[in-house]
Amino acid sequence: MTTTYQEAAKFVADQMKIKPEIGLILGSGLGVLADEIENPLHIPYHEIPGFPQSTVEGHKGQLVIGTLEGKSVIAMQGRFHFYEGYPLELVTLPVRMMKSLGVHTILVTNASGGINTSFSPGDLMIIEDQINFTGQNPLIGPNLDELGVRFPDMSQAYSNDLRELAFGVAGELQINVQKGVYAGVVGPSYETPAEIKMLRKMGGDAVGMSTVPEVIVAAHSGMKVLGISCITNMASGILPQPLSHSEVMETAELAKANFLNLVKGLVRKI
Ligand code: HPA
Repeated sequence: MTTTYQEAAKFVADQMKIKPEIGLILGSGLGVLADEIENPLHIPYHEIPGFPQSTVEGHKGQLVIGTLEGKSVIAMQGRFHFYEGYPLELVTLPVRMMKSLGVHTILVTNASGGINTSFSPGDLMIIEDQINFTGQNPLIGPNLDELGVRFPDMSQAYSNDLRELAFGVAGELQINVQKGVYAGVVGPSYETPAEIKMLRKMGGDAVGMSTVPEVIVAAHSGMKVLGISCITNMASGILPQPLSHSEVMETAELAKANFLNLVKGLVRKI
């Protein structure tokens, strides 16, 4: 029986002229990277069997397949979130589709709130590890044995090698990067100040509403992952002003140049 991710992969494979090796999942305000892909093939999500539509402002909703820094890549310009009402099986479908297309390495990016008070809005944080605060797991249900084991190891969900590479590239490009733990929550309401204090005590450096499910599914199927968070705001209660999505988008825009350079530098070396 073909499952949906295989149908999606077949639909995409039938159109693509190159075989992508690196997957890019581009978060809020960071989709511009996909505009730099050369000889691009664009496939809107709504055309792909089984894909939902992306609904969040700042997410375009298409796959872009082509060459970036000499490497064959497949980028998601916009992703799906649990808070949009999609089951995690759909949220993570593109990761499994990428695996099926031959992608071995995924670069996941997101916008997040800084919990660590030494961070500033506009900082890029290389994700060292994640904490799943969603109360959900995308692997619940029958295990897809063809992809991975029932009880997958998560001790290196984010690849140490890729992280070292990222620090090296950031150093060469003189981009100041932070590192830390990404606390994944469901949203869509931002956190309360009390929740941020709790997340800080529990080991979170940044908080966001994506990434965690995709990384669990990537780890399950043995893909190497590098995660980059753009700290678009200080998390709730740290500064006096309220949080807003427009602030998130504006700061992502400001951090764009560093983000683009870092990711391109990385893709060159993967
Ligand atoms: N909280 C949760 N998700 C986010 C935030 C935040 O402060 N900023 C950007 N995404």
